[in-house]
Amino acid sequence: VKKLAILTGGGDCPGLNAVIRAAVKTACHRGIEVVGIQDGFRGAVEGDFRPLGPKDVSGILPRGGTILGTTNRDNPFAYPTRVGEERQTQDRSDEVMERFKAEGIDALIAIGGDGSLSIALEFAKKGLNVVGVPKTIDNDLMCTDLTFGFQTAVATAQDALDRLHTTAESHHRIMILEVMGRYAGWIALYAGVAGGADVILIPEIPYQLESIAKAVQGRARLGKHFSIIVVAEGAKPHGGEMVVERTMPGRTDPIKLGGIGAKLAADLEKITDMETRVTVLGHLQRGGSPIAVDRVLSTRYGVAAVEAALDGDFGMMVALQGQDIVRVPMAEAVHKLKKVEIDDPVLKAARSMGIEFGD
Ligand code: F6P
Repeated sequence: VKKLAILTGGGDCPGLNAVIRAAVKTACHRGIEVVGIQDGFRGAVEGDFRPLGPKDVSGILPRGGTILGTTNRDNPFAYPTRVGEERQTQDRSDEVMERFKAEGIDALIAIGGDGSLSIALEFAKKGLNVVGVPKTIDNDLMCTDLTFGFQTAVATAQDALDRLHTTAESHHRIMILEVMGRYAGWIALYAGVAGGADVILIPEIPYQLESIAKAVQGRARLGKHFSIIVVAEGAKPHGGEMVVERTMPGRTDPIKLGGIGAKLAADLEKITDMETRVTVLGHLQRGGSPIAVDRVLSTRYGVAAVEAALDGDFGMMVALQGQDIVRVPMAEAVHKLKKVEIDDPVLKAARSMGIEFGD
């Protein structure tokens, strides 16, 4: 391998720049040329590449976002095109393969979540040398204990919960914090435990309104006239559906849910007669500087991805298992999300101390 390309895809995530920095430094240290692909897979289709050297990555470790333009969810296999007034999609993956060949790129390091790594895997099937790096604040990728960005999102949500506690107590209110997590409740679970929530609602456990009401009323009887509820955006009532605000052509995932907190507040006020307020944390969880543990994890991932490429170990994703960074087949890591299981040790600990999950 003489020339590596790096791409960041999907939603942004604290630690993206830390991965890029570590990969560029490691590659340059070994005399390998690196190019950055601008704007995720869009840049791969349009040929928007730029050389990356130590100077380009200097000072980026604490920076949120990505230095590679924007990160987006464009897919070269279903690339959005406008034909007159009509929006259509087109398979432009062959152009990407040709472009990589013409540029003399030997391997691609794709930093992404399930969506972007699934696209990267399709390119691997077409013969591209690919190494994946697991990125998502949701922590819902298979085969890895942690994705980078997750711990920063949890820290942000925990800070919000600390603040909500004092205002909840001052007004004798139910405070609901809606956090990200469409399919998996990792952020809600960890932030809820770290932030001392009374109720945690996650997509994996459909909730019953009565159980939540019972929990907050039970607290009131004990003299605690306020309650803190963390709800993942993908949580749903028993027999109900996840609240989806809208969808978009060319994108298979639901967008900007931001609705379950408000629904829950209205329903709870009705049956508890307690004043209730909602905070939707939204993209605050994705922006800003990664915390120390995410900087370390991102750095280890960036180094490990280059090492995998130099070993010719392609079609693999670097992953954290226990204390070790390992390589796992990308095919095993994508198309199936890692959910919070009923016997998850953190979930069990939370239940043991009386945190309500609404079931
Ligand atoms: O997958 C990461 C994530 O932040 C989810 O938690 C959230 O539902 C989604 O992305 C939001 O995507 P967008 O920024 O495109 O609205």
